[in-house]
Amino acid sequence: MSNIHQGFCLNFQKEIKMVYQMHNIKLPVTDPHQLGQDEAFFYLVENENEVCLRFHDYGEIYKHPGLYEQLFYQRLKCASPKKVGDILTKVLRDNRIEMTELRVLDLGAGNGMFGEQLQTTGVARIVGADISEEARLACERDRPGLYDAYYVCDFCNLDTIMQKQLVAWQIDCLSCVAALGFGDIPAKAFANAFNLVAPSGWIAFNIKESFLLESDTSDFSSLIKSLLLSDALEIHHLERYRHRISIDGRPLFYYALVGKKESDIPGNIMARLDHA
Ligand SMILES: C[S@@+](CC[C@H](N)C(=O)[O-])C[C@H]1O[C@@H](n2cnc3c(N)ncnc32)[C@H](O)[C@@H]1O
Repeated sequence: MSNIHQGFCLNFQKEIKMVYQMHNIKLPVTDPHQLGQDEAFFYLVENENEVCLRFHDYGEIYKHPGLYEQLFYQRLKCASPKKVGDILTKVLRDNRIEMTELRVLDLGAGNGMFGEQLQTTGVARIVGADISEEARLACERDRPGLYDAYYVCDFCNLDTIMQKQLVAWQIDCLSCVAALGFGDIPAKAFANAFNLVAPSGWIAFNIKESFLLESDTSDFSSLIKSLLLSDALEIHHLERYRHRISIDGRPLFYYALVGKKESDIPGNIMARLDHA
C-alpha cells in the first residue's frame, strides 16, 4: 500500500461502510481534451516510487484496496451504479415487479460496486462475472459474500460447462455498469449475456453517449442501435446523465438504459458479431 497519510471512509455517495487508507495518486498534466477515455492514466506513488497506470489497468488497480474507489468514485465522481440502480428500481416498481424475486447477472462486476448497489434493493440472487481474476479476488477481499457466485470467464467464448452453470441460476436480469465498449466488454460478450436472460427479463446498462451517434460504426454501437430498433428489447427508460468527470474535469455523459427483454438477439445479428 502507498504512503499513507490519512484514512477515508467510503460507500460511493451513501452511508459510510468501509474504511480504506488513502493512496497517493497524481493525475497527469495534459492539455484538456488531449487524451481519449481509454488512454487516460494516472500515477500511483508508493514508497517514493511513481508507477504509471492506465485507467484500464483494472487488474493492477484492484490489487490496491480502495484505489479503484478513490480514483473513480471519490476523485472522478462516478455516479453510474447509483443512477442505473435507481432507474432499475423505478422501472420495476412501475411494472409491479418485486425486486426481491430478481436473479441478476452482473456482467463486468469488477470489485462489486454495482453489486453493492443491487444488494441495497434486496434482490434474490446476484451472480457476478468478470474476465479478470484480480477483480474476483478484490471483490472477495473488499465485499466478501456480496455475490452468490462470481465467475471469471470470457463471455465471448463460454464453454459448455460454464454455460450450464449460468443457465442453472435462471437469470432474469442482466446488469452491466461502466463496463461496455472502449476496450472493455465487447459486443459479442454482451450479446451472449443478453441471450442468457429469461424471456420477459430485465436489462440494465449504461453506455457512453457517442455509441448512439450515427457516425459511430463500431461493433458495439451497431449492436446497441440494432437492439434499440429490434423487437428484442422493449425500452422502458433511457436517460442521459453525467457518468463522471474526465481527468481534465470535463463531464462525461452516458446513457442509462433499462428495458425488458422480449426475445433473444436475432440470429443474423449474432452471426454478424461472430464474424466481426
Ligand atoms: C470500469 S470496471 C466496472 C466495474 C463495475 N461494474 C463498476 O461499476 O464499478 C469494468 C470491468 O469490466 C471488466 N471487463 C473488461 N472486459 C471484460 C470482458 N470481456 N468480460 C467481462 N468483464 C470484462 C473489467 O475487468 C472490469 O472489472
